[in-house]
Amino acid sequence: MSLVNRNYFVLAIVLCLLVLQEAMTKAISTDDTTEAILSEVNVDIANKLPNGATFTIHCKSGNDDLGTHVIGAGKSYGFSFKINVTGSTLFFCGVSWQGGQVEFDIYNTSRDDGKRCSDECKWLAKEDAVVGFNFIGTGPNPDIVIPWQK
Ligand SMILES: *[C@@H]1O[C@H](CO)[C@@H](O)[C@H](O)[C@H]1NC(C)=O
Ligand SMILES: *[C@@H]1O[C@H](CO)[C@@H](O)[C@H](O)[C@H]1NC(C)=O
Repeated sequence: MSLVNRNYFVLAIVLCLLVLQEAMTKAISTDDTTEAILSEVNVDIANKLPNGATFTIHCKSGNDDLGTHVIGAGKSYGFSFKINVTGSTLFFCGVSWQGGQVEFDIYNTSRDDGKRCSDECKWLAKEDAVVGFNFIGTGPNPDIVIPWQK
């Protein structure tokens, strides 16, 4: 090999290493995407009840009891969690006010994740019902309506 050819050979190897390093960096950022799939979900329910009424809410999952909270007029109650690795995260709540009470699943991974809401799941407590919003597609679309039971 001539000196010139040898220099080209070295240059080619250096270029290969640079390309390889770039590819490995990309592989590492793919891991970040996996992290994003397990990113936090925020659930909240806002008080839109009439006449300054408060509501009382108590939410639980298989692992957590979030306790009882009284939510004033115009306020909201929310919490965050990471989706269960088994894909079975379920949070259910009881909500009551002077106009009645309901029990419902505020978050169910198989119902909600990528189908109704991916990281922001919103509900309203209204005079006639608790209403859940679907943010996928044309969103926000009130697709779950749970009337108060007296
Ligand atoms: C996560 O899944 C496990 C196994 O299915 C279940 O026991 C647990 O309650 C789930 N956690 C939540 C927060 O739903
Ligand atoms: C969660 O939602 C799925 C799909 O709608 C449903 O089949 C399943 O029964 C729900 N899980 C619970 C524990 O209610």
